[in-house]
Amino acid sequence: MKQAISVVGARPNFMKVAPIHRAFARYASSWEHNIVHTGQHYDAAMSDSFFADLEMPHPKWFMGVGSGSHGEQTAKIMVGFEEICLESRPDCVIVVGDVNSTVACALVSVKLGIPTVHVESGLRSYDRSMPEEINRLATDAIVDEHFVTEQSGLDNLIREGVDASRIHFVGNTMIDSLHYALPKAARCEILERLGLAHQGYCLVTMHRPSNVDHPEQLSMLLGVIEQVSQVRPVVFPVHPRTRKKMQELGITMPPSVYLIDAVRYVEFLALMRSAAVVLTDSGGIQEETTALGVPCITARTTTERPSTCELGTNVLVEPSADAILHAMAEFDAGRHKSGFIPPLWDGHAAERIVDLITAHYS
Ligand code: UD1
Repeated sequence: MKQAISVVGARPNFMKVAPIHRAFARYASSWEHNIVHTGQHYDAAMSDSFFADLEMPHPKWFMGVGSGSHGEQTAKIMVGFEEICLESRPDCVIVVGDVNSTVACALVSVKLGIPTVHVESGLRSYDRSMPEEINRLATDAIVDEHFVTEQSGLDNLIREGVDASRIHFVGNTMIDSLHYALPKAARCEILERLGLAHQGYCLVTMHRPSNVDHPEQLSMLLGVIEQVSQVRPVVFPVHPRTRKKMQELGITMPPSVYLIDAVRYVEFLALMRSAAVVLTDSGGIQEETTALGVPCITARTTTERPSTCELGTNVLVEPSADAILHAMAEFDAGRHKSGFIPPLWDGHAAERIVDLITAHYS
């Protein structure tokens, strides 16, 4: 029996791994698939509820590394994951996305000579001040096989000298999860609970260090959100990082901004699919809104997911008051993209990945 291990650590990883786990079930006679959770995210709303919503099994290993500086967190993950790899000797390690857990585990498994693959490979913002960009570059420099979600991923890897035979354009496993969970989202009652009407509100998320760690930038953004809420109510599920900064600054918001804690996956999908418009600085939400056909304004100077702008509903704007309010005014005037779905975002990416892994490493 062969064994593959997938690594999850932070919120955006769970929905990328759940469909991979399901796809391995088709090879149950020859492959065992296990999940390791580093514990980078540990709050129930940031972690546990995702396992329930995505019907993922409990991880076989939970490392419980928690928060810390990047060096500390990455180092703790490496120490823990090395022990797991030495003990269980997997035939393949699967890392996803661009969080600290991704690069930490890739470094460990590649150095142990374990075949290592990266799901969501090749994305580049070309902004090295983003921790995720360093994680992406370092991971892609060392892994054996690259699974890409969009054309830019393929182009970037070729430009960086990766052999074309190791790059596989398979689509987007996060969109597999979206397809899987949408029926549950349709039954979820969060809109009723918050008293919201379909397409009657703006959904906001903000958690990038560049937007929330500097008091002036965060105050400016919250002022913009307050202005946006004068046109239609704003629902703002607050990431723990942002919550902490807001508390430090003593910032409060008017009742037209529904400040709620980070919500579980199915609830967030429900909020996204019924939003009139989404304002975010997230990576993944740019893709999910494109898949749902919901207009999205991304307050960042760069995106590592250009297909969401070129093909989808996403508009990238400077994270400044003028630029965001201008984009909102354009939306209010009915000038927004309807977009279409990027190639292979069809709900079957994980099956393609697992077919390739099992063929390659059998
Ligand atoms: C991480 C990822 C980022 C991803 C984001 C989604 C890296 C470098 N960044 O950023 O790519 O978009 O997750 O959420 O890996 N905290 C809690 N409870 C938790 C998790 C975090 O309270 O369950 C708080 C802690 O105070 C922590 C802070 O949030 O210090 C930041 O968490 P961390 O995992 O370091 O980074 P994120 O900002 O969540």
